Amino acid sequence: MSETLRIEDRGTHLLATLDRPEKRNAIDQELVDALHALCARLEVERRTLVLAGAGGSFAAGADIAQLRERRAPDALAGINTRCFQRIRALPMPVIAVLDGYALGGGAELAYAADIRIGTPTLKIGNPETGLGIIAAAGATWRLPQIVGDALASEMLLTGRILGADEALAAGLVSAVLEPEAALARATELAERVAALDPAATQATKRALLAPAHEHPRIELSEQAVLFESDEKMRRMTDFLERRGRSSGNRPAERGSADTSPGETNSAPSSAAATSRADTDQEQR
Ligand code: COA
Repeated sequence: MSETLRIEDRGTHLLATLDRPEKRNAIDQELVDALHALCARLEVERRTLVLAGAGGSFAAGADIAQLRERRAPDALAGINTRCFQRIRALPMPVIAVLDGYALGGGAELAYAADIRIGTPTLKIGNPETGLGIIAAAGATWRLPQIVGDALASEMLLTGRILGADEALAAGLVSAVLEPEAALARATELAERVAALDPAATQATKRALLAPAHEHPRIELSEQAVLFESDEKMRRMTDFLERRGRSSGNRPAERGSADTSPGETNSAPSSAAATSRADTDQEQR
C-alpha cells in the first residue's frame, strides 16, 4: 500500500487519487510502483478506474528530482512509459478527472485514459523540451490521435499549455466541470459502465485500442464471441419481452408516440430508440 496513491473501492469502480499535493502530485518511483500494483489488481478484478489528483492538481509531471538522476538505461527501461501503457491496456475503462495541472508525465497519464473530464483550472501540456528531454511516455503517439497532428505538434514542439476551454474545444477533455461535479460525472459514468455487459465493454475497448490494420477483423472476431454469449441472449430477450409486454398493454399510445404525421411506424425514430435504450439501461 502506497501513501501517495489513495485507493477507494466504490463498488462499481475503484477511485485512485494521486496524493502528493506538496509536490503537485509529481509522479515518482513510489507512485509508479503503486500504479503497477493497482493495474495488477484491475487486470484481475476488471472494474472501471477513476483517476484523480489531490490538492487541486492532477499531476505536475514526472518527478524532476528523480528524472535528473536517470541515465540512458533508465530511459530505455521506459519507467513511466510501461506504467502508462499498462494503464492504457486495462481491460475496463479508465476515466481521468483533471483538476489543475496535468503537465509532462501527468498529461501523459491523462492521455492514457479512455475518458478525460477537466475542471476550470486545468492546465494541460508537455513542457519536456524545456527540461532537455522529450515526452516519451505516450504523448508523441497518443496526443496526435486525440487532438490531431497540428495541435499535438504545436503543443509538443513549443511546450504550449492549454487551459480548460482550449482543451475542451480540442476534444482533449469531454467536459469541464467544477471539481466536485467533475468527480460526480466520473462516478456517474463508471456506474453507467457497470450496468452494461462487461464482456461487451472489454471487447469494445480492445477494438478501440487496436491498430488500424486490425480493423475490421478485430470487431468481427470480438462480435463472433459475443454473439454466442448467454448474456447477449439474456439482454436481448429481456429487451424484446419488455417491449412485447408494453406494446401489448398500450398499443394506441405506442403507435402515436413513434409516428409523426405522414410517417409510417415501421421503425422508431433514432431519437426515440436512443431514449428508450437509455431508459432500459437505467432500469437495470
Ligand atoms: N517534479 C518534482 N517536483 C515538483 C514537480 C515535478 N514535476 N512539480 C512541482 N514540484 C514541486 C516543486 O519543486 C515544489 O517543491 P518544494 O516545495 O519542495 O520546492 C512543490 O512541488 C510545489 O511547486 P511550486 O512550483 O512551488 O508550485 P506552483 O503552484 O508555484 O507551481 C507548477 C506549480 C506545476 C507550475 C510548477 O511546480 C512547475 O512548473 N512544475 C514542473 C512542471 C513540469 O515541467 N513538468 C514536466 C515534468 S516531465
